[in-house]
Amino acid sequence: MPIVINPITETFAAEVGGLDLRRPLEPGELQVIEDAFKRFSVLVFVEQELSDQQQVDFSLNFGPLETAMGNIRTDTKQRLRPDLADVSNLDENNELLKPDDRRRMFNLGNQLWHTDSSFKRTPAKASLLYAKAVPPIGGCTEFADLRAAYDALPEEMKRRIEGLVAEHSIFTSRAKTGYANFSQEEREQLPPVPQVVVRTHPGSKRKTLYLASHAGHILGMDAEAGRQLLADLIAHATQRQFVYTHRWRVGDLVMWDDRCTMHRGRPFDDLKYRRSVQRSTVADVAPTVEQEGIRLVA
Ligand code: OGA
Ligand code: MN
Repeated sequence: MPIVINPITETFAAEVGGLDLRRPLEPGELQVIEDAFKRFSVLVFVEQELSDQQQVDFSLNFGPLETAMGNIRTDTKQRLRPDLADVSNLDENNELLKPDDRRRMFNLGNQLWHTDSSFKRTPAKASLLYAKAVPPIGGCTEFADLRAAYDALPEEMKRRIEGLVAEHSIFTSRAKTGYANFSQEEREQLPPVPQVVVRTHPGSKRKTLYLASHAGHILGMDAEAGRQLLADLIAHATQRQFVYTHRWRVGDLVMWDDRCTMHRGRPFDDLKYRRSVQRSTVADVAPTVEQEGIRLVA
């Protein structure tokens, strides 16, 4: 069965068919996927029927996986194994989360534009989200092309942001959804980390913005001015022409490049419909400041 790569947009998103991801890839197949992933930031592997182990095994082709952080709290049971992030609206008994469930509040943060794990020193390289149940309406995921958004910036802005470093924290994005109910202990587990604002995408060698709602301010810049600059860049990067909207079908495995995209979940009636999606996350190779050769002064 030859692999079919069907572009959805010219350079950003593509469907991938002709592959059964339940079995190990042949070397030639991995090469085809890796080549496609240099050009397209979002690959939609259609009609997959995967066990958790098969999702993990496929993901491991692209590097070591992150441990999902759950909700940083140990007093709720996780529905999934530690290398799968539970992005569903279900509890450990596969029932819909109740309106006041802390996990439900926490997951609301996924509806803000972000890239995965930029609040970790070494963030994510790629995410693979697998859909087992989807709502009949709503619950799409949007992806923004940060390489195209960088290219479209005025030269003056490109010069202005070169070498800038932003501070990212999970608590910054969660505060934006009105959710700040974290203990001191939880906060200490995830201190703010530095991330470059502009980076070079290793696959394509193209420059890209690196942004997320986790970013609070810019190091060495007036805090309010930094916040405003980040907000302006996110507004620029998420204009319609840079965005692909994915409408999920059961069996889709969507793999995206966290190094050069942002994404956000869209609302749906989560007290009525089940949305069972689970994510494996491939870790990047090093902190972004290190990859860009930027030395931080204390
Ligand atoms: C994620 C995420 C959004 C969605 O899995 O990392 O942000 O639409 N998901 O579920
Ligand atoms: Mn995410």
